[in-house]
Amino acid sequence: LAASIATALSTPLLAAEMTVGFSQIGSESGWRAAETSVTKQQAEERGIDLKFADAQQKQENQIKAIRGFIAQGVDAILVAPVVATGWDDVLTEAKEADIPVVLLDRGVDASEDLYLASVASDQVKEGRVAGQWLVDTVGDKECKVVELQGTVGSTPAINRKKGFEEAIAGHANITIARSQTGDFTRSKGKEVMEGFIKAENGGKDICAMYAHNDDMAVGAIQAMKDAGLKPGSDIYVVSIDAVPDIFAAMVAGEANATVELTPNMAGPAFDVLAAYLKDGTKPEKFIITESKLYTPADNPQGEYDTRKGLGY
Ligand code: AHR
Repeated sequence: LAASIATALSTPLLAAEMTVGFSQIGSESGWRAAETSVTKQQAEERGIDLKFADAQQKQENQIKAIRGFIAQGVDAILVAPVVATGWDDVLTEAKEADIPVVLLDRGVDASEDLYLASVASDQVKEGRVAGQWLVDTVGDKECKVVELQGTVGSTPAINRKKGFEEAIAGHANITIARSQTGDFTRSKGKEVMEGFIKAENGGKDICAMYAHNDDMAVGAIQAMKDAGLKPGSDIYVVSIDAVPDIFAAMVAGEANATVELTPNMAGPAFDVLAAYLKDGTKPEKFIITESKLYTPADNPQGEYDTRKGLGY
């Protein structure tokens, strides 16, 4: 009997027996909605019991949700952190409760031993890819850029700005004339772009619009059209995410480039957790997803159809 109890106690946890709490940021963008549905799908396929909490863009709600998961005694926690700072206490509480945490798609300014792993893109590289596309496209032409930043204090906003600036550095003909947050939403992207257009001679002085995500770009495209401008030709449109709507804009000739961010961060996260909970296998700390550039030359209609078919 003692032997069988010992065996039962040491039997590794299979993915199907895992209960995982997921603190999601909210539903600010098409990409975010896709990440949520892919995460639920990945959990279902693996028989994982996923406890989902939508924080409605508020860090305090995320902290509350994580504390709730700890109190429930979940086996692991996924968190997409809305901003970079302010996580030390709650991550320490999870660590003390022996609950591994995996970060999804955004980073934190906290000690690396407070989380098991991070599954995210190289966000500086995303900005660099977008910036390099612009450098290659405009050549020597003078180009005033307006930039729509993501959520203030979030790692994609910080890093995508940095990467873009790195790419255009040394190209004095390309300058960022205006830069403001659009909070990763379509409506804010539109509103801020309207202001940029007014401030820049009805948009005539703007050569390119760089948005930290596609949703803000789609909002900005609308603002350009409302002002009688032709997005994609009067003003270059470059952004990040590769969601279906930006491919629809490319098909219409209204967007020029996007950098892909996969919404499947949960698949690798669940793999890492299953291995860790089974026998303590330590994963790589940073699992980096691809950052592929798409332009109208890359079959935008096909990319639209594929993503729609995947349930984006
Ligand atoms: O953290 C990833 C970013 O968050 C996506 O690029 C954006 O669409 C989302 O809101």
